[in-house]
Amino acid sequence: MKIQLLSKKPLGADFIALPVFEGEKVDFEESVVKEFLKDNPKFGKLFETQLLYCLGVKVLLVGIGKKDKFNFEVCQNWAGSVVKSLLNKGQGVVLLAPTSESLPIAQTVYALSLGMEIATHDPSVKYKSETEPTKLKVGQIWVEKSSPSLQAALQKAKILAEAINSARTLGDMPANEMTPSYFLSVARRVALENKLKLQVIDEKKAKKMGMGAFVGVSAGSDEPSYLIALEYQGKRGVKEKWGLVGKGITFDSGGISIKPGEGMHEMKYDMSGAAAVLASIQAIAKMGLKANVVAVCAVTENLPSGKALKPGDIVKTYSGKTAEVLNTDAEGRLVLADALTFAQKDFKVSKIVDLATLTGAMIVALGDFTTGVFSNNEEFAQRLIASGQVVGERFWLMPMDEDYEELIKSEMADMSNIGHGGSSSRAAGSIVGAKFLEKVIEDKRPWIHLDIAGTAWDMKARPFRGAGATGVGIKTLVELVAGS
Ligand code: BES
Ligand code: ZN
Ligand code: ZN
Repeated sequence: MKIQLLSKKPLGADFIALPVFEGEKVDFEESVVKEFLKDNPKFGKLFETQLLYCLGVKVLLVGIGKKDKFNFEVCQNWAGSVVKSLLNKGQGVVLLAPTSESLPIAQTVYALSLGMEIATHDPSVKYKSETEPTKLKVGQIWVEKSSPSLQAALQKAKILAEAINSARTLGDMPANEMTPSYFLSVARRVALENKLKLQVIDEKKAKKMGMGAFVGVSAGSDEPSYLIALEYQGKRGVKEKWGLVGKGITFDSGGISIKPGEGMHEMKYDMSGAAAVLASIQAIAKMGLKANVVAVCAVTENLPSGKALKPGDIVKTYSGKTAEVLNTDAEGRLVLADALTFAQKDFKVSKIVDLATLTGAMIVALGDFTTGVFSNNEEFAQRLIASGQVVGERFWLMPMDEDYEELIKSEMADMSNIGHGGSSSRAAGSIVGAKFLEKVIEDKRPWIHLDIAGTAWDMKARPFRGAGATGVGIKTLVELVAGS
């Protein structure tokens, strides 16, 4: 979709979308609009719509909710709802930029264009024999006055939207297509296009290096597995280096501890963490941010077979610590442990953020709207949460007290890959996962684990976005790295 800024009254647009704050007036002179709002003084609930015809122009009034609730997320989703509702109806739409003291205009433009691009993504087009072609080609943002900073916001949104939608494409792709080798081919392309250094560790090499946990999970699958590292250097002469690490299970059947059949297809999204870090480094490089970053993707399937890990097996992680695998479905923490050590040992990263669809317990705790944050450094975690706030992604800091370490003690090895003790083996499931990962973090370097199990995909279509992969985390990571 082509997105432009418009600073004078639109001529010849198919549709003009006007944001209406709940119970507020609209600064638009057409009397039809004024009269409608006079007759409907309560109009304006988020995503409420009304189409009016004003002298040959179709004016779409779209509610944007209460003025005091307006923020980046509302603004982005408002634009998404406008575009999604018009996809097959007109060629072009003009969106009147909502104005509010709570969001600077550059952020408004950034949010609006992101929302528009995200709404156009439809993963089924590739697979359905008959689809309605998208008519909508141009979105114009109507602002009082264009400026270089608004043009820059537009450019930034374009880079981000491209990264987010490509991560969503990977997530939505079925696991018979989106294999570890396919993921690698995408990573190769990203590296080439953005001049990133690429290092690929295959299973043979991983075994030689002592990555017993990653190799153990990979063993059950016939597809080749890879640990992929992409490196971006945007700031020379400093030691500071970000490590972004992602769980890339292209299909998680649970392995020998097999999952129930119902809902198992959702496990094609179990690589959303890896897709997010790949997309983030792509955006960081395209923006030319002044930072050094390495993205590590641990990519494999988790399947049962004669070669698969069995409950009770003990693997030696790349960190040197041994882990007793009491449930082969807790595979994410195994592959991530080796990926985290890879980032620390081989790339000397100074701070780390990992993203993983790690635990079902995360969905029980926070649902689909908020990502759980686990960290060994509260100040670092608060910085990430604040970056999320700027770009409309919600996070919640979870406890990581020492007491929880008790739950991953093993009779046989240095740690167990599932929790036990407490009131139930399911107690604090997400914290247990995070505690396992923390075991391989060396010398207390700042580390954040984001459990995106609930937020990485949406089974329901929303007014502003189709169902499926959401691309969560990318905006926040880029904002965080940009601010460093
Ligand atoms: N990929 C799953 C976690 C998951 C579940 C993500 C549902 C999204 C939706 C992960 O590998 C897993 O299976 N975790 C187990 C851990 C348990 C065996 C300790 C879980 O959450 O049940
Ligand atoms: Zn699993
Ligand atoms: Zn998994």
